Amino acid sequence: MMNEASYRQWRKSRLESYPRRVEELLVEIGGLRSVSEAERAEIKATCRRANMAIYRCRDNFADRAAVRKFASGFGLTRLDHHLCANDDGVSELSVAPEGVRSGYVPYSNRSLSWHTDGYYNVKSQQVCAVVLHCVQTAEAGGQNALLDAEIAYILLRDRDPRLITALEHPECMTIPANTDALGEIRPAVCGPVFSYAADSGAIHMRFSARKKNIRWRDDNMTRVARAALAEILADENGPVLRYRLGPGEGLIANNVLHNRTSFEDGSAHKRLLYRARFFDRIESS
Ligand SMILES: [Fe+2]
Repeated sequence: MMNEASYRQWRKSRLESYPRRVEELLVEIGGLRSVSEAERAEIKATCRRANMAIYRCRDNFADRAAVRKFASGFGLTRLDHHLCANDDGVSELSVAPEGVRSGYVPYSNRSLSWHTDGYYNVKSQQVCAVVLHCVQTAEAGGQNALLDAEIAYILLRDRDPRLITALEHPECMTIPANTDALGEIRPAVCGPVFSYAADSGAIHMRFSARKKNIRWRDDNMTRVARAALAEILADENGPVLRYRLGPGEGLIANNVLHNRTSFEDGSAHKRLLYRARFFDRIESS
């Protein structure tokens, strides 16, 4: 990564600008299809501070095409068409009682542990940004906790730079192949937790706290690093921000660490979120 002097400077400015309260992430906009220049600039400025922003639409109209249009205003155009997405690459996150999606936790009402999106993607299909738009909330629950990966990086490096070295190892985290009765859906994927964009040096984080289906490198420093990260993520007084998206609100983020609490749908309140994942990062200016 960068040399020590420039790292120190970068670290200082990142910590100073990072929001202390989740409300600092909020930006009001006209709607998914009507974002003014000033609103777009405010979202980008918020993303420069935190690698994420939460927008709130005055006009609640939302469909998958509107989500794509909104995202394209931030340079997010290359969609990750993964297994459970619709043909246009936008997923509908809701409780799936049957079908291919029902085997996956995101399409249930269960809690989701800390992760970055697409941690099982190969390097050439790295998910760099995500838009998560809430159409409807559940009766109760479904709150997200959020942490900028750059802040996680800094706090780990503050503890011990060797933790970063361990997490940069190309064999640090392996996701075994995804198979079903018919055979292999996706081969095993092995890679580091932290990597850096070749052009900008931007930090990319690949992580899942799932106990099942993750194989960690058998190495003491890797174990120490994972425990340190777990501590940071569990710290009630730390930098983790918590928010429950309401209808017409959404998160636009450079694939930050996040989790989700479990939720309960009611007859009038069935949780529905659109999610789009991109191979691009949010334009910074
Ligand atoms: Fe996610």
